Amino acid sequence: MKLSNELRSAMRLRVDYTNMTDKYLGGKGISPATIGAHKNLAKAAHAYVKENRGKDELFMGWTELPYNQTEIVADILETAKTIRRKFEYFVVLGIGGSALGPIMAFNALCHLHYNDLPKSKRKGPKFYVEDNVDPVRMKELLDVIDVKKTCFNVISKSGATSETMAQYLVISDLLKKAGEDVKEHVVFTTDASRGNLVKISKELGGVKSFVLGDGVGGRFSQLSPVGLLPAAVLGIDIKLLLKGAAYMDKLCAAPDLKKNPALICATLQYIAMKDGKNIGVLMPYSDNLRYVSDWYAQLWAESLGKNETLLGEKCNVGQTPVKALGVTDQHSQVQLYTEGPYDKVVTFLSVDSYKEKSPIPHGCENIPDVSFLGGHTMEELIRAENKATAYALTKAGRLNYTISLPVLNEFTLGELLYLFELQTAYAGAMLNINTFNQPGVEAGKKATFALLGKPGYESQRAELDNAAPDENYIV
Ligand code: PA5
Repeated sequence: MKLSNELRSAMRLRVDYTNMTDKYLGGKGISPATIGAHKNLAKAAHAYVKENRGKDELFMGWTELPYNQTEIVADILETAKTIRRKFEYFVVLGIGGSALGPIMAFNALCHLHYNDLPKSKRKGPKFYVEDNVDPVRMKELLDVIDVKKTCFNVISKSGATSETMAQYLVISDLLKKAGEDVKEHVVFTTDASRGNLVKISKELGGVKSFVLGDGVGGRFSQLSPVGLLPAAVLGIDIKLLLKGAAYMDKLCAAPDLKKNPALICATLQYIAMKDGKNIGVLMPYSDNLRYVSDWYAQLWAESLGKNETLLGEKCNVGQTPVKALGVTDQHSQVQLYTEGPYDKVVTFLSVDSYKEKSPIPHGCENIPDVSFLGGHTMEELIRAENKATAYALTKAGRLNYTISLPVLNEFTLGELLYLFELQTAYAGAMLNINTFNQPGVEAGKKATFALLGKPGYESQRAELDNAAPDENYIV
């Protein structure tokens, strides 16, 4: 699809941070002087990201994904075509950064009841992402799919994640028992040369595989084959997704807070964090965008939650992401946001024009409390509630800002993802931490290996066995 400059700017995301400012929050917001005082820090963060973009050794390869995948995209589209032709079910086996992106894009860009649609109305096979090892879930997935008609996309950069590899063992065993050739039913997305999936592929005689580049960590991988293959199988226009990301990259080329959407978001969040706003709520007013919050929660939490600066100084930084959904959570969490502790920043995701309007018919004419709704649309209602919630928070002196998508499509989703990725990289640079590692996650993975008897983890096993609960503290 060719995109004119007019079309691109019509699809440009907007960040409105009016409700973060002192002027509108009765002195409880951020003053222009405070923003001004952070200009140099923001500039330095921008320069750091610009200087290091694309560097694999710093895990910043993700910045180039919108530009350097022409051949990979062609291969993905070809593979997706074959999968759509051959299979009735497509199952992603992966966890964390290897699952949240595919879940998010599926929910954002496909029919909300995609799997319930008849085959003729779906662009691809039925779709499942299995990002847990709950034994009930595994068994019940197998109740609704037929492994003989299923393609399993095993996504794991390390090929060593217990959850994903346990799932792989289950499905390869079932496929063998069903007399199927495992190789014909799996696609691997993994590291180029290291890791167990590379070994398994060799053993099976060469599995169709896509590479997750060295410089792309799990949570920054949605625009790599991790996210692009599942999306393409679903009929999502992955080229447009990448174009949206490239457009956001261009918008963020400016080191100027007034011009760079990701830099202003990062700076405001940084100022808020330093002022004790340790909770960041992401509240999309769109069911299609609800899993963007899950994806973002990992990106923001795993990237910024660190206990050491790049200089080796001790610190405990980060902001706890909270997932909320408009309007649903207006009827649960918003009470807390409006009147509870002043410890949050609420980010709204708004859509200007929904793909459906859903008119509300006239009725109940004798009951004015109900009839006033008639003649409006559900779109008007959700937009009014979004505005009303922002207004109520602002009146109560609560920090909030809005990222608006003119419409929700591949291009604007690409913009949004790239905005959040850059925002995270800028915020990490401001905090002077390693944004791209996850030692805390690795610690849990290793303890699991020890508990399940992986060779090489014997001493940790002994330590865990000795750490029995203290009887004095069991009620
Ligand atoms: O962001 C990350 O690095 C993690 O969430 C990983 O994606 C997750 O732990 C899965 O790891 P792997 O892809 O090696 O199976």
